[in-house]
Amino acid sequence: MDSTTARAGEPIQQAITYEKIPTNIYADAKAASQAVAKEIAALIRQKQAEGKPCVLGLATGSSPKTVYAELIRMHREEDLSFRNVVTFNLDEYYPMEPDSLQSYVRFMKEQLFDHVDIPAGNYFIPDGTVPLNKVADFVRSYEDKIESYGGLDFQLLGIGGNGHIGFNEPGSLINSHTRLMMLDHSTRAAAAGDFGSLAKVPKKAITMGVASILKARRVVLLAWGERKAPVIKAAVEGVVTELVPASYLQTHPNGLFVIDEAAASELTRMKTPWLVDTVVWDNKMIKKAVTHLSLTLGKPILKLTNKDYNDNGMSDLLAQVGQAYDLNIDVFNQLQHTITGWPGGKPAADDTNRPERALPASKRCLIFSPHPDDDIISMGGTFQRLHDQGHEVHVAYQTSGNIAVADDEALRFADYVVDFNERFGIESPQATQIFRDAAAFLRNKKDSEMDTPEVRHVKGLIRRGEAKSTCRFVGIPVENAHFLDMPFYETGKVEKKPLSEEDIRVVMDLIEKVKPHQIYAAGDLADPHGTHKVCLDAIMEAVRRLKHKNFMKDCWVWLYRGAWAEWDIYEIEMAVPMSPDQLLRKRLGIFKHQSQKDGVVFQGTDSREFWQRAEERNQGTAELYNRLGLAEYEAMEAFVRWKF
Ligand code: F6R
Repeated sequence: MDSTTARAGEPIQQAITYEKIPTNIYADAKAASQAVAKEIAALIRQKQAEGKPCVLGLATGSSPKTVYAELIRMHREEDLSFRNVVTFNLDEYYPMEPDSLQSYVRFMKEQLFDHVDIPAGNYFIPDGTVPLNKVADFVRSYEDKIESYGGLDFQLLGIGGNGHIGFNEPGSLINSHTRLMMLDHSTRAAAAGDFGSLAKVPKKAITMGVASILKARRVVLLAWGERKAPVIKAAVEGVVTELVPASYLQTHPNGLFVIDEAAASELTRMKTPWLVDTVVWDNKMIKKAVTHLSLTLGKPILKLTNKDYNDNGMSDLLAQVGQAYDLNIDVFNQLQHTITGWPGGKPAADDTNRPERALPASKRCLIFSPHPDDDIISMGGTFQRLHDQGHEVHVAYQTSGNIAVADDEALRFADYVVDFNERFGIESPQATQIFRDAAAFLRNKKDSEMDTPEVRHVKGLIRRGEAKSTCRFVGIPVENAHFLDMPFYETGKVEKKPLSEEDIRVVMDLIEKVKPHQIYAAGDLADPHGTHKVCLDAIMEAVRRLKHKNFMKDCWVWLYRGAWAEWDIYEIEMAVPMSPDQLLRKRLGIFKHQSQKDGVVFQGTDSREFWQRAEERNQGTAELYNRLGLAEYEAMEAFVRWKF
């Protein structure tokens, strides 16, 4: 085992450390959450045995959900009782009614308290309803109450993309106490999805202070997914600074970061593991090291010298392979061979060094698109080429994407149908009534109210129309667009249901029907809560169940990256270049998704339009290839093969 591989359920070990806080990295969020839940359970039981209360500080957000789920499982299956548990939550939006959809009171009940035997009077959450002139008294009494129970035995934390802990935004001092805090723009933008729009996110929150958090006898911070990677690097390896409040945890005598591999990906031991330990120089590690060296030194691969390798902690690699010259050529050729303008394989060409097989010359290709626009945003250039090069291309739109349509957009369409039917005297009172009801609901919809099934249907139809329009634009027949409307997605909320047998079934049925030679899927392995991950899980499970079938023996699965980032350069196995004209054509294909333009429901912290993100990313990939010394292309889409 080398230093960057985890044994199942065990954190990764290392020799030298750049890390200023103990950090346990697990293969995934589930394994990590199980370890944390185990520690909490042991503490609860120990306190029980001592006849004492166990005082826990708890967090909300997406990160601790998996820990709470594991605690609930232990309560059900392993007799873990919460009767002696007293909890204090970190924070609450201000103002906030406790029964509101976004309140942390509701969150905690749904995620934990309603499922365990904690006594009703044993949990405390900052009160989002106290009048402004009473907040000062309230926050003092909150701290006093924690002290009255003897202080926190254990504090669970998440971390904001800006480094906040609790809602202690950058600028918070190490001696800050529980208080009312203005929320950062980035924090509000990250919460916009839960509230329906940025404007509806409260501007303030009551939060336990940094000093209040640091007083806990044990502090464990969780982080999952690559979006957290930069801030984890800053908090763990950077200096202690108020600009990254999580870095204050470096001063805690008993703190621990528990993170998954994706959140750890910027840490030195993951990014350049050869600097912290001996590594096994397999081909993947060699590619990673050589491309990293080339990009860091700003030198094309073929110009790297023995001295460059020796000066940058890679002398043992040289000792193993001999000369920089041989190493450079080998890696350069491997990268060269990933580039192809023939994503479906080049007919009648020698395919020894090509990413795809030449035969069959005409393939059936099945593109899975988690949302109705991921196909064109993430692999629009490849989609177009596959069609233009004579392959039979199908697209499976996995979810309806209905929650990402703005109310006003839906109202416009509902009004259109009602007006149209009236104008032409169309006799379908029932259908007209559905749209009339939807329009009436939308006109009077209150903040954070959930959409009715009719409105969700209208919103889903809008996105379906846009997806069909993209298919027409690319040139595939409309019957090759398959709308799966996977049930896990249909909650009307950001929070989705777990993957069910029915979800897997619809995916299996379509694969069996199309019998594809190629499957393209959004491979966002690093986003543990996102729709993309659930959609991928469904495909992977379907493929595993079908793999014994004959047609599957001739099926290759290619993963593209959807939402957040591109594959690392050393991982890419197929790179499909685009000319300036092809890139422009892709942009026009993305424009078909009008409901996702000009300020969308889920803007997040990135204010760019989707076509801009896609173009910048594809141009960025091409630029990386070029900086490594390969040919200069306008843009590139990248894929990794999943060998099932
Ligand atoms: C929640 C809290 C916040 C979150 C942080 C990360 O009570 O205080 O600090 O822990 O914003 O949120 P997620 O886990 O949703 O990424």
